[in-house]
Order: sequence, then structure tokens, then C-alpha cells
Amino acid sequence: MGASGSRSRTISGMGFYTLDDFDVRGKRILLRIDVNSPVDERTLRLVDGSKIRSSVPTLRELLDRGAKVAILAHQGRPGDYDFIPLNEHAAFLSQYLGRRVKYIDDLFGSYALKAIGNLGEGEAILLKNVRDSPEEQAKKSPEEHAESMLVKQLAPAFDLFVNDAFGSSHRSHASLVGFTPVLPSAAGRLMEREVKTLTRVFQTPSRPSTFIFGGTKFADALPVVERLADRETVDNVLVAGLAGYAFLSALGKKVGSKTEQLMSKDLTAEVVASAKSLFEKHRGKIRLPLDAAIDVEGKRHECRVDQIPSDASAKDIGSKTIEEFREIIMGSRTVFLSGPPGLFEKEEFAKGTRELFNAIVDSEAFSVIGGGHSSAAAVRFDAMDRISYVSTGGGALERLMMGKQMPVVEALRASTKKF
Ligand code: 3PG
Ligand code: MG
Repeated sequence: MGASGSRSRTISGMGFYTLDDFDVRGKRILLRIDVNSPVDERTLRLVDGSKIRSSVPTLRELLDRGAKVAILAHQGRPGDYDFIPLNEHAAFLSQYLGRRVKYIDDLFGSYALKAIGNLGEGEAILLKNVRDSPEEQAKKSPEEHAESMLVKQLAPAFDLFVNDAFGSSHRSHASLVGFTPVLPSAAGRLMEREVKTLTRVFQTPSRPSTFIFGGTKFADALPVVERLADRETVDNVLVAGLAGYAFLSALGKKVGSKTEQLMSKDLTAEVVASAKSLFEKHRGKIRLPLDAAIDVEGKRHECRVDQIPSDASAKDIGSKTIEEFREIIMGSRTVFLSGPPGLFEKEEFAKGTRELFNAIVDSEAFSVIGGGHSSAAAVRFDAMDRISYVSTGGGALERLMMGKQMPVVEALRASTKKF
């Protein structure tokens, strides 16, 4: 390995180097991870540590292999309430890792450089929130970002850049793509696994394949639904949740004024037109709710979608839809779910989500879920351990599904340096 380059990066089969391609003992590694987490608006503390936990295996491997590791990460965006320092992230990392990860309140100044210089083998520090630097989020190419202060100051202190921030791989930010033109670079284990698994699921799924979309963001889901429905290898696209009712509304169905209020922003003339033509084109492949669970003074009441009362609020799919979707899931060899099919946080409206998760884990299918809400639902219905693959990606996953370029993956593929 090393300078001899005896192991080719084709090992990963993904066109980028991985940790298998470098002997990291005694080397200084700059590791970019994605630990951007939900923050409680009142206490400003982290609500959930699952993204942080997903970043630990790469860190642990690097430390076990004798590397000296400085970590870069972001949290929130300047101006938003969740733009907070990374002290608590360091505490979570230390807890999950079982070793101390010291937080350094500096990004690339003399204090940070000194802490990097002092790192011993098997030691790790977490540097300041990268979005503290105004250059970070500029939309620039890797070569342009390589000219940023961040890269100019930090790159000389390291032997290798490791990018494990799959959740941010759709962003072309300085800390994500700026080091690859100047340092030997590799994908971390999470990045490697996400890209490998998701590419397979979206490009060559075992069939029949079923893709389920729920959640509230119809305008965001629609282009993804379109991309998937157009694919020969995709057999069923089920749309549920508020997105399902928005789809029905775009087709001219009355889904209740309170339901409609929640989706009015999403249903622009353009979205309505493309939903209509998409449904026409893929009749049979795209399935929408047949019945709804509406909220009648806090209680669940089911009705057919053509009988939804005019002022109703639809909060879950009904039993007929559950039955139909369950049958489709049970007959599938791949099932992907993004976004819960109902308002599962409320017990009265949790049935649809619970039942679809039950079907997914009862089926023989290779199952994949993505997005924070889907993971929260899987935890609630005790399905997490029985889902084949849980992705850390939200926006990144969506881009990958659409077959769009991922700047971070492209940057890693363009990097051919070794040490
Ligand atoms: C995310 O949580 O979506 C990623 O960490 C990227 O963050 P961003 O959406 O604020 O760019
Ligand atoms: Mg985001």
C-alpha cells in the first residue's frame, strides 16, 4: 500500500479510494462527518444522537488502526436557532466511542493547529462548527474551495482527508470538497456503505420493487416519484401521508378543507399539472390512498376517499389502503420507504404507519428506509433492527434517487493522490 499503491482503488468498485487503500498508522487524518442533528428549540440541546452514532464506526476504525484524527463537522446554519457549537456532539461521540473526543473551539487558527500537532496515535479532536467560516457554504467547485482559508490553513497539517459525511454529499461546500484537490482522499465506511447499498437499490433492485413515499412534502416528493415511476425496474410506487392526499387533490378529488390547508403551498399550478400527467402515464404503477382516516374530534374515523367530508382533516391511510399496500409489500423483493404514511406520533392515526412497517418486516424483501421521520417511526414501532438498511441521508438520498450528481462523491472520484 502507500506509495507503492499495490492495492487498486477498484477494490471498492465505486471509483473512489476507501480506508482499505491507505495505511493510516501514525498519520494525521482530517475526517469530515455529518452529525447535523435536530435541536430542541427551547433548551438548544440535541434531540437525537442517531446521526452521531452512525459516524462512530469510521472514527473507531481509524483510531484502532493508530491514526491521529481531527474531525470537521457542521450544525445548522448561521442565523438559524439550530446553529449551535459542537460541544454536545463531542460528548455524544465520546460516549458512543467509549473514548474521549476533545472539543476544540477553533477551526483553523493557531489553537486548532496546535491541538492537531499535539495529537497522539489513537487520539481524536473535534474542531469548531465549519459553518462558522463565511466561506464554507459558498457554491464553488473543489478547485475554488481549495483556495479557501480553511483548506489553505488546515491541509498542510494532514496526510489524508477522509469524507464520511454522506448526509451532506449533495452539497459542494468548502469542508466537503475543498480538500480533495490537495490531499490524498478516501471515503469513510459510512459513505462507502451508503453509496454502495443505495446505488444498488435504485439502479438494480431485486424485483418486484416497491417504493413508498409518505410525509408532508408533496412538491419535493413528486420529482422523485416521477423519476422512479419512469424506471422499468420499479414495479410499484405507493404514495401515502399528506403527500398522498395532495396527489389526490391535484387529480381533482376533494380531500377535506383542513387537509387542503396544509398542502396549499405545495400545490402550485405547475405541480398540479405534472401530478396529473404523471398519474395518467403510470396508471397502475402509482397507487394512491383508497380510503382515509380523518380526525373527528380527536378520534379516528375512516371513509372512502370519494366520501371525505368537506371540512375534514385526513391524518392517516384507512384500512382498505393498508390492506392493498400490505399485499403489494408482501409480494415485493425490494421495499423502500421515505416518509411516514400517517401522523404516527398520535396513536389514533398511527395504524397506517405501524401496519406498513409490520408488512415490511414480515415480508422477505430487502428493506430500506431513509429520512429522519421514517427512522423515528421505525424506532417507535420496534422495526429498526429488522429493516435491512437505514440510510442517514435526507436531501442526499433524494438526490441520489433522482440520479443527480453528488458533488462529494464526484470529488472523491476525481481524487487520485496517494501517500
Ligand atoms: C442535513 O442534515 O440535511 C445535512 O447535514 C446537510 O445540512 P443542510 O441541509 O443544512 O445543508
Ligand atoms: Mg437538510
